[in-house]
Formats: sequence, structure tokens, C-alpha cells
Amino acid sequence: MKLFDVYPLFDITPVKAKGCRLWDSNGNKYLDLYGGHAVISIGHSHPHYVEKISTQLSQIGFYSNSVQNPLQTELAEKLGKLSGCPDYQLFLCNSGAEANENAIKLASFVTGKKKIVSYKKGFHGRTSAAVAITDNPKIIAPVNETDNAIILPFNDIQATEKALKKGDVAAVIIEGIQGIGGINIPKKNFLSELKSLTEKYEALLILDEIQSGYGRSGEFFAFQHSNVKPDLITIAKGMGNGFPIGGVLIKPQIEPWYGMLGTTFGGNHLACAAAIAVLDVMQDEKLVKNSKTVGNYLMEKLSGISDKYEVRGRGLMIGLEFTSPIKLLRQKLLFDFGIFTGVSGQNIIRLLPPLNITIQEADQFLTAFKKALKEVAE
Ligand SMILES: Cc1ncc(COP(=O)(O)O)c(C=O)c1O
Repeated sequence: MKLFDVYPLFDITPVKAKGCRLWDSNGNKYLDLYGGHAVISIGHSHPHYVEKISTQLSQIGFYSNSVQNPLQTELAEKLGKLSGCPDYQLFLCNSGAEANENAIKLASFVTGKKKIVSYKKGFHGRTSAAVAITDNPKIIAPVNETDNAIILPFNDIQATEKALKKGDVAAVIIEGIQGIGGINIPKKNFLSELKSLTEKYEALLILDEIQSGYGRSGEFFAFQHSNVKPDLITIAKGMGNGFPIGGVLIKPQIEPWYGMLGTTFGGNHLACAAAIAVLDVMQDEKLVKNSKTVGNYLMEKLSGISDKYEVRGRGLMIGLEFTSPIKLLRQKLLFDFGIFTGVSGQNIIRLLPPLNITIQEADQFLTAFKKALKEVAE
């Protein structure tokens, strides 16, 4: 059987990883400034993470959501405490798209309404409702097309109020910081204005923190840079450090009923063990603080290297927007300097390293970046 060929692949086969480093099958060593697409939060193969998952597997890896699973409660308690959202309720699922799908469904159940407002350049996943509100016609199949999706210009509060005024909007969904769209930060007060408007027109505010959450922005959630309390918060990526797990944080006023949401694999023992290990390490190693410190350091240094690009970001979620394509530069960084970076569109390099990256590793990247920039210009 052949694989369904949907991914353009680099000809690199990683076989080992530790902290911010990877090794390929030819013994080449890489520095990871991409974190496997913002997924690696506590670093590759952290000993506490390996130990927690291995021990759990030797005891019980999975049973269904029809029995008690104290690991789910432990996870919810630890997450509530570390995230500063102890009063929310947690629904566990398996991926980012699924988290958004469930959040959208919840908003619709709670309000009895059908429409969802989202924003241009936003990305919310590839399941039915999530893809319909994602601003990319190429990945919306005819079956996903719906009049229920209203995609508005980013940061446009007037357009949002106009849409909400009609009274049929169940939720407004927005990324804490747009990731795939190119590291776009909501302008000052936009989130708090959205919160006021959603309250006024009886809709819910969903913060998609799938990429920007879990310490990536230098706060546990990116919305915590503003003074808002969303109704629903969606999480995935950094939550399991590579183990598939996602979740929805649900404000206390929303009451569940049996069967309202459900999943076979969501919140299974192994996934919970992975997610608990992530929170343990984030707390012990103060990784949210490290994200802010190393992120600020990187952004300051990057701003001083060249005026060929604009630096945007918060914490370890950094975008470098050039005026021309960056394909060559990115390839040079990977193949000549052994550094993985991310991309957005043709012109933007995205840096999403593990949250435990050190200043020394940041310096190694900066030195290579300077040289690579010079070499592509020659
Ligand atoms: C902001 C955001 N939301 C949702 C998703 C979808 O997550 P997943 O690929 O786990 O379904 C992504 C993935 O990149 C994302 O960046």
C-alpha cells in the first residue's frame, strides 16, 4: 500500500531527539526552532515525560469513558492551577480541530444559534465546522461549505458588531495570536471589545489557543496579555508534547448533560499521563517564564540584524516577514546550518522552538541566521 501523498516532505529522517536537538538517520544533528509545528513544549524526550508515559503504559494504557479515570481529574486540577483558569471545566479530546469542533458545537447548543464569526488569515483545523470557518478556500470541500460561517477582516470591530447585531451568531472565534496566518497579534483592546460585544448580543467568545497557548506566548494563554475571560478556550499542540491530546476549557456557567459531547479516545490514560507530565515539567522548569525571556531576547536580537524583514511575535511565537520569498533561506538554514524553522505563506519564517530553549541555543540560531542571510544575498 502507498501513503496518500498530501505532504511535501524534506528528505530528512529524524531518528532521535533530545531537548531542542534532533538527529537524522545519517547521524546529522539539528537545532529545532520549529518544535514540530509548535507541538514540542517541554523539549523532546524529557526524562519525566518518558518515565510517566512508560509507567502508565505498563499499568493501563486505555479504557473507555464509561469508567472512573482519576488521571483526568488530576490533569484538570493541574491545568486549572497552572493556567490561571481554575474555575473552568475541561472536556478532553484528541486534536486541535476536534477541540474547535466541540467548542463550536457547545456554543451552538448553549445559544440555540447557528452562525460563527471568524477572521481572515485564521486557521482552526480541518474537521467540518472548523474548516468552514478557516480562511482557506482550498481546504474547504463542497460538503463543508455553509452559510453559517462569517469570515471578517482581522481586528475589524465594526464589521463584527454588524454581524452580531443580526442576533443569529452563536460564537466569535479568534486565535490568541494567528499562527498559520503569519504571527498576527490582535490589536490592543480588540479581545476585550469582542468580549463586550459577545455579551451584548448573547454569543460566546471562543479563544483558539491551540498554537498560541501552553506558554508559547510568554503567558500561559496568549489572551492573558489582554484583560479578558473567554467563554471557551481550545487547546492541543503543546498540551501533550507530541502525544495526541486536545481539550476545551468551558466557563463554569455552561451546564453539561449526558451525551452533549463525547469521544472514544479523548482523555485516555496514556494521553492524560503525557499531559500531566507536560504540566509537571512546565511548572518545575518555569517554562512560561523561559518562553518570555528567551523570546524577548530573540526578538530584540533579530530586530537588530537586518531591516530586510519585520519581526512580530510574543514569547517563543515569532514571525519574520520578508518582502520576498524565503524558501532559499529556510533551505539553507536546514541543510547548511542544521536548523529547523517554520514557514507561513511565501515570505514569513516562523520560529516555534521548544519552550526550554536556552540563550546559548538561541545564540547558535542567531549566528547561523546572520550567516545564512548574508549567503542568500550573495
Ligand atoms: C490555531 C490552530 N487551530 C487549530 C489547529 C488544528 O489543530 P490539529 O492539527 O491538531 O487538528 C491548528 C493547527 O495547526 C492551529 O494552529
